[in-house]
Amino acid sequence: MVAMDYAQMGQDWLAGKVRITQFGKYKLTPKQIEYVNAKDRHLLVSGGRGCGKTMAFIVKMYLLAQMFPGIHILLGRKTRSNIEQTTLPDVFDVFPQGTYEYKVGAGKIFFPNGSQITIKGLDASASGEDTKKAAQDIKGMNLGAAFLDQLEEISEDVYDTLDACVRQGGMPFHQLCGTTNPANYWGYGRFKATPMPHYRLIEASMLDNKQNLPEDFVASQLAKGESWVRKYVHGEWSPDSMTEGAVFEESHVRAMEHGVKAPLRTLDGVKIFAEPRMEPYQIGVDPSIGTADPCCVKVFSRKTGEEVASYSAFVPIKVIADKVSFLSSLFSEMDRPLVVPESNGVGQALVEELRKRDLKIYIRESFNSRTRKTSDKLGFATTYSTKMQLIEHAKGLMAKGQVRVREKETLDELKVFRYDDAAKKAGAGSPDGFHDDRVMATLLALWNVQPTDGSRDELADEIRKAVKTFRRATRTNQAR
Ligand SMILES: Nc1ncnc2c1ncn2[C@@H]1O[C@H](COP(=O)(O)OP(=O)(O)OP(=O)(O)O)[C@@H](O)[C@H]1O
Ligand SMILES: [Mg+2]
Repeated sequence: MVAMDYAQMGQDWLAGKVRITQFGKYKLTPKQIEYVNAKDRHLLVSGGRGCGKTMAFIVKMYLLAQMFPGIHILLGRKTRSNIEQTTLPDVFDVFPQGTYEYKVGAGKIFFPNGSQITIKGLDASASGEDTKKAAQDIKGMNLGAAFLDQLEEISEDVYDTLDACVRQGGMPFHQLCGTTNPANYWGYGRFKATPMPHYRLIEASMLDNKQNLPEDFVASQLAKGESWVRKYVHGEWSPDSMTEGAVFEESHVRAMEHGVKAPLRTLDGVKIFAEPRMEPYQIGVDPSIGTADPCCVKVFSRKTGEEVASYSAFVPIKVIADKVSFLSSLFSEMDRPLVVPESNGVGQALVEELRKRDLKIYIRESFNSRTRKTSDKLGFATTYSTKMQLIEHAKGLMAKGQVRVREKETLDELKVFRYDDAAKKAGAGSPDGFHDDRVMATLLALWNVQPTDGSRDELADEIRKAVKTFRRATRTNQAR
């Protein structure tokens, strides 16, 4: 389509004479059609994983750039590297080749019709001062539209500042468009609980887009446990699916208090709570971030769910790797323990160090929604949704009394660990001034662990139930 057509289409679209249902080879889903055609000033799509949020968001951004010559659009996310690594590859997949020019250094996308997209990190998760700086930075902008990927990562202040900037003169259309996961943050009140005037929320389920997703992927997602399925498959955004406050139930934490004990011995800073037995073990590693947080290494028995060793200190990556190596050989009576390191940020360097040693490192399946392929990677990648899975899993074990925490400091951290949608906490963390490294290392040491005491059948039942639900959902979807 040539630029002229687009400009005319823009006029017709504004006048309500055109409804967009297709974009090149992409046939849009009904929810995507709703999103792309909505004209409300504040627009947000919330939903399950893979429900097509990003696709709708990108298509809309492209169309606005083409239909309204000279429009200035801001494409924002928490950090610019977030956008470059996660959003841009999708953007360039969808934007028709040869119709725009991307200037990497400037962080801008130019269109021949004078429209431009500016890529910007909004740093909402940074400390108060940085947020202020980001706000200062955007205050001077004069925009036709703002596109905010993962609105839950952006602070309310920054959003309001942007709102005031979306006022480009001579532009017949202005809009703020976002995508979000169903998280507990300011957006819930404005878009869902009591929608403010000119705020429009579109909610979608993974099943709305299932024709564009691999069948086995959808099935595996549906097999993940009820609360996870409600939130991440069906995209349910409600107080029920947003559990507030303490992550771990008081009664469970209380029960675990009885198991706290002093270490049998301490070896070079490593607390040993039980001697190695003929049992499989798992080691969780939360690497430290700079000097603000200590690192933590935890060893749990995969058979009994008992904590057998713990190490926590402010030390360089190499020292952490040495401790992991030491603990791995100490608890190798039956089998080498499975080491589950967090692989984000500094975790990447840690994984590299661990690779040099003779260890059995956790392999994750990583799903690339762009190429729709899965690949194997080392370590555990913490994101909002994987952190929730870690938590759900550990909570399930605790509810069955299958976790025995031995270290007192860990129990103290478990008590204050809260759901929190401040972006840097990825859904949960400790209040400022408290650490959560011991909690994270504990969750990693328990990840996928099913202590053998009678829990197997329950899990199998859960999966059977989920698959049934999936079949039913598929049938209703087809019937529609
Ligand atoms: N209308 C469509 N036609 C064809 N493929 C589509 C369509 N919409 C989405 N897809 C594909 O489905 C997959 C998931 O879509 P998308 O990434 O937009 O979902 P999402 O809701 O943003 O997912 P996530 O929760 O992972 O961010 C992608 O591979 C995307 O290319
Ligand atoms: Mg997305």
